[in-house]
Amino acid sequence: MESDMQFEYAAAPESRTIVNIKSKYGHFIDGKFVAGSKHFPTINPATEEILSHVAKAGKTEVDAAVKAARKAYLSTWSKMSGKERGKYLYRIARILQERSREFAVLESLDNGKPIREARDTDIPLAAAHFFYHAGWADKLDYAGLGIAPKPLGVAGQIIPWNFPLLMLAWKVAPALAAGNTVVLKPAESTPLTALLFAQVCQQAELPAGVVNILTGDGSTGALIVNHPGVDKIAFTGSTEVGKIIARTVAPTNKSVTLELGGKAANIVFDDAPIDEAVEGIVNGIFFNQGHVCCAGSRLLLQENIADEVLHKLKNRMEKIRVGDPLDKNTDVGAINSKEQISKIIDLAAAGDQEGAERWSPNCKLPTKGFWFAPTIFTGVTQAHRIAREEIFGPVLSVLTFRTPAEAIEKANNTPFGLSAGIWSEKGSRTLWASQQLRAGVIWANTFNKFDPASPFGGYKESGWGREGGRHGLSAYLKGANNE
Ligand code: NAI
Ligand code: MG
Repeated sequence: MESDMQFEYAAAPESRTIVNIKSKYGHFIDGKFVAGSKHFPTINPATEEILSHVAKAGKTEVDAAVKAARKAYLSTWSKMSGKERGKYLYRIARILQERSREFAVLESLDNGKPIREARDTDIPLAAAHFFYHAGWADKLDYAGLGIAPKPLGVAGQIIPWNFPLLMLAWKVAPALAAGNTVVLKPAESTPLTALLFAQVCQQAELPAGVVNILTGDGSTGALIVNHPGVDKIAFTGSTEVGKIIARTVAPTNKSVTLELGGKAANIVFDDAPIDEAVEGIVNGIFFNQGHVCCAGSRLLLQENIADEVLHKLKNRMEKIRVGDPLDKNTDVGAINSKEQISKIIDLAAAGDQEGAERWSPNCKLPTKGFWFAPTIFTGVTQAHRIAREEIFGPVLSVLTFRTPAEAIEKANNTPFGLSAGIWSEKGSRTLWASQQLRAGVIWANTFNKFDPASPFGGYKESGWGREGGRHGLSAYLKGANNE
């Protein structure tokens, strides 16, 4: 029996005294913090409070960082034994664990994500990536790329704002394990945990120049991509910028991996465990405010169970707590930026205009900052913009299907192919569907599960290459596919 009884929650705010944010930051080049010239603010999107000012790297700083990375590559890092490199990676992993609360609070402040997610997902997974790759550093001969595969050299790495420290870990850990050095640029709205990571590199006594961190916007990113001293580009972000990068590196010798957008289908068959599926639907689209490339943003419901699932889903959504990201009870935090909230508002308006039906629970949103209530659209057709374009927000588009074949056809009818979810009690149906789906990651009776040992990446416009696992490691080594 469903109960309507609701308990009031007392506020449970995490203290922010553990973080020490400077009013201004420079860049981290050759093991030292160097003053920057132009600065721009980074804000807390939940309050619009300015947290700090970070520097915008131009040509001079990019040149200096690439030069430092090259020097460190030639003189120390590529010469060091894998066993020794592994020790540094273990050390970084342990420091991330020791300072996990500090990182979690800083990530929540700069990004707007709930402290519960920063604390339980972002930071532990970032540490796990360093632990996992520390284990690879002295075992590269067994990566399947022949005896003693060689690193590529200097990697230019550009990351987005949705999982700032975790995306840094996805990029830096395999690069370092394989013997490369890096120049990394965090996103302009979330630079603070990358700058704290620079302090961790100092604390771990990582040799100077192995990791260089430059802050800046897309123009800094473009300088890194175009730099002739960079051997490999690893990018996570929009498909639009991914295409620009692909065009830029095409005539060069640079290797490239791209992890881009998605519009994942989360398919619920009529034999699915409905209550579990509802939890998976909520996790699939409302985790991290829906700022997730692999979010389950298209819900495909088998027609005969659609009413029941929607009824239970709406009931569950009434209980989602939206608000102060630093409150430990919060489920959905702030939208990361003014640009992102206007994109979400525009796409949701397109949903209304094209005739889909919008529904949100009754939730009170804070007056300051950028907020969007968890939202579902029903009556969505495949032609609607909200069924085709990545919204990257807490907005779910619901479609229905009658037969399994129709589910697969609809799921694959997208320019993307990053992830998918299948909810069914039948193993045979799950295996059949997962073979038909053109998506890099497929979850069955769960969603948004990540592990450093598991390769992650997409088909079609969702990107090139894989990150994580042995496949991800090979993108940082010269071998069969990477001369
Ligand atoms: P973006 O792709 O512009 O930004 C991602 C990173 O690339 C940032 O560090 C940015 O400074 C850098 N960048 C921008 N232009 C560049 C260029 N020409 N060359 C090199 N680096 C460049 O993404 P943005 O504008 O923040 O978000 C727009 C949309 O992209 C979102 O609404 C979402 O749909 C999608 N997105 C997807 C992500 C994913 O994880 N797949 C992550 C972030 C955004
Ligand atoms: Mg910020």
